[in-house]
Amino acid sequence: MAYVLSQRRVILGITGGIAAYKAAELARSLSKAGAQVQVVMTDAAKAFVTPLTLQALTGMPVRDSLLDPEAEAGMGHIELARWAELILIAPATADCLARLASGRGDDLLTTLVLATPAPVHLAPAMNQQMWAQASTQDNLATLTERGFVIHGPESGDQACGDVGFGRMSEPEALQRAVESALAPRALEGKSITITAGPTQEAIDPVRYLSNHSSGKMGYALAEAARDLGARVTLISGPTALPCPERVQRIKVVSAQEMLEASLAHLPSDAFIGCAAVADYRPVSPAEQKLKKGQNDLSQIKLIQNPDIIATIAQSDRRPKRVIGFAAETQDALAYGQKKLAEKGLDAILVNTVGDGQAFGADHNALHWCDAAGCVDLGRASKRVLAETLFQTLIKRTPL
Ligand code: CTP
Repeated sequence: MAYVLSQRRVILGITGGIAAYKAAELARSLSKAGAQVQVVMTDAAKAFVTPLTLQALTGMPVRDSLLDPEAEAGMGHIELARWAELILIAPATADCLARLASGRGDDLLTTLVLATPAPVHLAPAMNQQMWAQASTQDNLATLTERGFVIHGPESGDQACGDVGFGRMSEPEALQRAVESALAPRALEGKSITITAGPTQEAIDPVRYLSNHSSGKMGYALAEAARDLGARVTLISGPTALPCPERVQRIKVVSAQEMLEASLAHLPSDAFIGCAAVADYRPVSPAEQKLKKGQNDLSQIKLIQNPDIIATIAQSDRRPKRVIGFAAETQDALAYGQKKLAEKGLDAILVNTVGDGQAFGADHNALHWCDAAGCVDLGRASKRVLAETLFQTLIKRTPL
């Protein structure tokens, strides 16, 4: 994705923490990828890394002062704030977070943040105790709510000898975040409906039939589609996950409800069935709790649930693309391709479940199968796989 950064205008803000040395690496790799990187340093940052180093790495003089007549004679701070397509502050210290949260503008960096229409990304880095402080966490919550994009921090050994959360995200991860924030939004204006999570089929008011789906894959898809510019409707069975920002979530419980919500959202550009729909439901859920002595719980009559994705694929308001998932414990690709054909899908993502794989995990391994064959999307975090899935969709069957 390096081409994405060619001639893109990035302000790299550096505040005073030991992780500032990693910012030098980041400045170098952003510049190498073609970005115009304007480094802005606070006075404290200069105690950790010199402006000359950053100037040599980016080819641009570092800006560090709000009232520097020489710099203002070239590009004033308001023009600089408008020039930026993205501001990334890495590292962002606890003090920096506090100052941004309270809207201060008493140095160049905070003023630029106030004056820019560009998105502002923050990579916090600090001692783990400072990170855990209620004041820091409150500031973070305020900044997140105001639309600042936060990366990290990571957990691990710290320069001060402590172990815990507070290490700045690695430069490569921050570079990827900048690239994806500046990438062309390939799904701009498209509407995508995604089902996620399990369904629960009531036996009585306290019992249900369900499965181990956590919803993480479907939620990751919703976030990835949103970041590519799509309007996302997430039809979700019961999960513990928070609703992703800027995604419309419709909560459902049973397969019947999921089907109704899915039909109500037709047509759309794409429908992705990621939910683990319960295949059967009790014929008639009891209104009162079933009692062992009085009811024969070993004889609950079941009836097959409708196939949601097959219904959508056959609908006369069929979305342009209907994409399913197949969770298999054996012969995954063969079963996946069978479902692709039987359900009338454009593509199916096949994964192997069981033995701790897929359900509930943060990582997954997927194959994309369509009429032209199967490709291995590899093993990665569900978020990364979700991005790969959309890149594959855009490449193989553009919307
Ligand atoms: N699916 C659906 N409605 C159902 C069952 C499944 O929409 N009642 C969708 C899933 O969301 C997924 C695909 O169909 O996109 C395959 O789901 P899966 O559970 O792997 O397969 P099943 O069709 O249920 O087949 P089996 O249980 O026999 O493997």
